[in-house]
Amino acid sequence: MRLDRYISQTTGLSRKDAKLAIRRGRVSINGTVVTTPEHSVGADCEVTLDDQTLRAPAARYFMLHKPPGVVCSTSDPQNPTVLGLLDEPRIEELHPVGRLDIDTTGLVLLTDDGQWSHAITSPKRHQPKTYYAELAEPLLPELIEKFKKGMMLHGEDKRTLPAELEIIGEKAARVTITEGRYHQVKRMFAAQGNHVVRLHREAIGAVRLDPELQPGDYRALTDEEVESLR
Ligand code: URA
Repeated sequence: MRLDRYISQTTGLSRKDAKLAIRRGRVSINGTVVTTPEHSVGADCEVTLDDQTLRAPAARYFMLHKPPGVVCSTSDPQNPTVLGLLDEPRIEELHPVGRLDIDTTGLVLLTDDGQWSHAITSPKRHQPKTYYAELAEPLLPELIEKFKKGMMLHGEDKRTLPAELEIIGEKAARVTITEGRYHQVKRMFAAQGNHVVRLHREAIGAVRLDPELQPGDYRALTDEEVESLR
């Protein structure tokens, strides 16, 4: 995190006053005066202002039951955002971890810990995400193998990674994917001549949407949930 942001967060000073304090030589990192507001502060740095050690606020982690009609972005000119559903201080520091389509419901994680969200969304991590899907057309058992083998999606040149498909009703399935391609679940069913009419995310890795949460509700993650995704 930038030093001026860190000072502002830990002291309540405005960014402008934090910059001024830094430029005036009032701030040290690990005992050395630093006068550049852009300087980066690592997790194990000791930062002082006028010889007083500053403590970084603890990172925050939430799960939200996203309702339909809400977008997974920090701001949107037309639609309500997931951040608007949170009643938390310093809301502008939080961001959703990855995205769900506006009509998709279910589990959304939110945090102010950029490293943690990167670890979840990084394509290298192949973090499994499980969805419940309702389809327009009946599901054929041979689809299980097609999802497992991977398939070409329209406009792409790489097969999808193996995905798990569990058929749980004539037109209902549970799908687990380990990538995050654009509209991936909908496009996988479309590639097989079907159409998703309802999509709901149930889990990311070992973190499952809390059944106590009604659409629009959220709660803090437990330490165990946070660590399971790190
Ligand atoms: N796949 C989709 O098609 N949509 C989502 O919102 C999430 C995964």
